[in-house]
Amino acid sequence: MLGLKSTTNPEWAKIVEANLGAFLTDHAFAEQKAAAGGFSLIISYSEETELVKALSEYTIEETEHFKLVHDFMTARGFKLGRDTKSNYAAHLLKFFPKTKDRIESLVSRCLIAALIEARSCERFKTLADYTSDKELEQFYRDLIASEAGHYSQFLKFAKSYQDKNVVDKKWDELLTYEAIYMETQGKTPLVHG
Ligand SMILES: [Fe+2]
Ligand SMILES: [Fe+2]
Repeated sequence: MLGLKSTTNPEWAKIVEANLGAFLTDHAFAEQKAAAGGFSLIISYSEETELVKALSEYTIEETEHFKLVHDFMTARGFKLGRDTKSNYAAHLLKFFPKTKDRIESLVSRCLIAALIEARSCERFKTLADYTSDKELEQFYRDLIASEAGHYSQFLKFAKSYQDKNVVDKKWDELLTYEAIYMETQGKTPLVHG
């Protein structure tokens, strides 16, 4: 799905169902971190007008998603818990060597954002496909298209800032790196864990 090189074991959906409050807290914060990532890119690349326009929409959408998840969880009687650090994002950030080249760094950030969005989609689909909770299934199906759009947009921006073949190679290597990490995951009620 979306080029990913590993698939989540459906057993993960059962772990989520058994720990729904913790999962929804993690998801709510993932949406907020996505919005924060968009704002951070706007601050770092304010002169990139097309990117800033797209990110203006993106930050609104991700903030709306945060609200949707928060509303869903409170309707189910859950309270937003405390945020935990995302090991997934920290692991992905280690893939690209640190650089002072602004465009190189922008491409890396777009590719990592694209991958986080792609994996979110895959996890939401896994949950929707394997849960027996019809309302939960619909909630996650409704989010998939929006997150898939974010994935495509970040990948498109990455390819607009560097040679397409160079970006394709980086993307392919990043997908392999992520798939190796994901083989060890799927045991916790986290969107990317
Ligand atoms: Fe989102
Ligand atoms: Fe997204």
